[in-house]
Amino acid sequence: MALAHERVFGQRYLPLQPAPYKAYIETYGCQMNFADSELVAGILQSTGYGFTADPAEADLVLLNTCAIREHAEEKIWQRLKYFQSLKHKRSHLIVGVLGCMAERLRKKLMEEAPVVDLVAGPDSYRHLPQLIRQVEEGHKAIHTLLSREETYADVAPLRLSPHKVSAYISIMRGCNNMCSFCIVPFTRGRERSRPWQSIVEEARTLADQGYKEITLLGQNVDSYNDNGVLFAELLQRVAEAVPEVWIRFATSHPKDMKDEVLKTIAAYPNLSPYIHLPVQSGSDSVLERMNRGYTAAWYKERIAAIRTYLSDAVLSTDIIVGFCGESEEEFQDTLRLMEEVRWDSVFQFMYSERPGTLAARRYKDDVPSSVKQARLEQVIALAQRIGLENHQLRIGKVYEVLLEKAARRNPEDMAGRTFSGLPVVVRDASRRYEPGDKVRVHITEVSAVTLIGYALGAA
Ligand code: 5AD
Ligand code: SF4
Repeated sequence: MALAHERVFGQRYLPLQPAPYKAYIETYGCQMNFADSELVAGILQSTGYGFTADPAEADLVLLNTCAIREHAEEKIWQRLKYFQSLKHKRSHLIVGVLGCMAERLRKKLMEEAPVVDLVAGPDSYRHLPQLIRQVEEGHKAIHTLLSREETYADVAPLRLSPHKVSAYISIMRGCNNMCSFCIVPFTRGRERSRPWQSIVEEARTLADQGYKEITLLGQNVDSYNDNGVLFAELLQRVAEAVPEVWIRFATSHPKDMKDEVLKTIAAYPNLSPYIHLPVQSGSDSVLERMNRGYTAAWYKERIAAIRTYLSDAVLSTDIIVGFCGESEEEFQDTLRLMEEVRWDSVFQFMYSERPGTLAARRYKDDVPSSVKQARLEQVIALAQRIGLENHQLRIGKVYEVLLEKAARRNPEDMAGRTFSGLPVVVRDASRRYEPGDKVRVHITEVSAVTLIGYALGAA
């Protein structure tokens, strides 16, 4: 199972101190990939690299890639054409492909994109300095061996987000679930949990540096297990170590989510009741073909448990439309479930067959793309309607909001999130507040995706 996707986008690092060589890193895919890019940056920095936001002045370009849908890979092939043209002007430029697509395609990348000098999979980042040296000596370099142990627990990530407000900590790597549609078990390997002490220490370091919000990341956090320390206990230890920091996590799995975790969230005022619980489909027969290990009724029972323990829970999900053999009736089950659960936000995707997965071997990708597109549009329209209705119930309420950055549409406004994870635009906040401030906000308007309001004062 994969992590929450907040759309695929590139991230460009800011320049730091002057250094003899400059690296440019572009990140695609899930939050785990963003966390991994910070690990890679940490490893490169310790070997003397600086960073640039401009690929045209880089000596080393690294693309940290995603393989979850065909479209994610198509974007990288396109991007490599651009770096090919850049290499004509800067012949010493080294181009590397990291991440899930690197793991999946390995040699094909080198053979079909001569611009690529280096390929390194998600468990190979420790070897980057040697791999770069190999390229400098005139060879191509490739390392895609998956590990059963690697958690990078001792590698200090280099945090390069412009504001020291939010940070990720990866708590585990890989995935042992075999959802039939998913490439992640093949690209990220077996599941392994990072020692809890190193997670608590990293959280404490971030808190001392002034970070206000930490998201714990794993493909399936509910199966975290460090020699008997399970996820609920990890949450408890982190919550106690950094009581001043808001703690979030992603991603949960409906088949594994325990009441113990919900009780722990309810017991600590800094554990956010935001739960991203991917359902994928509302049809039992589709869930069976997806090998998800639960039924719609089981999923609804988990939602009921969340709402019992956490009255202010905010819920989101992932939905795939057009999975192999999905009939109109099966698709209608998904729409019905949406009406019943009423998630606050939904990430929806058209099924994209990934070679080598269980589904690719067992079933036919037989839903025509026009049907997938039409179903996707129906899911989007319904999710928007429900999201808006949920938000309308929040008009007039006052929420504590952590301000993150200037709002995209109007830089005089600021964007932030409530403790429970709802996105908020705070009008005219830029003159009075800074990223990282917590303010009380009176909600006066809403859209399907955000709450909008005015700051009443510091929280
Ligand atoms: N096709 C479409 N969507 C997929 N996802 C995972 N694999 C695929 C695929 N082959 C979606 C799932 C997952 C999210 C991160 O991406 O909904 O939860
Ligand atoms: Fe993240 Fe890799 Fe999965 Fe993409 S394929 S969502 S980068 S784990």
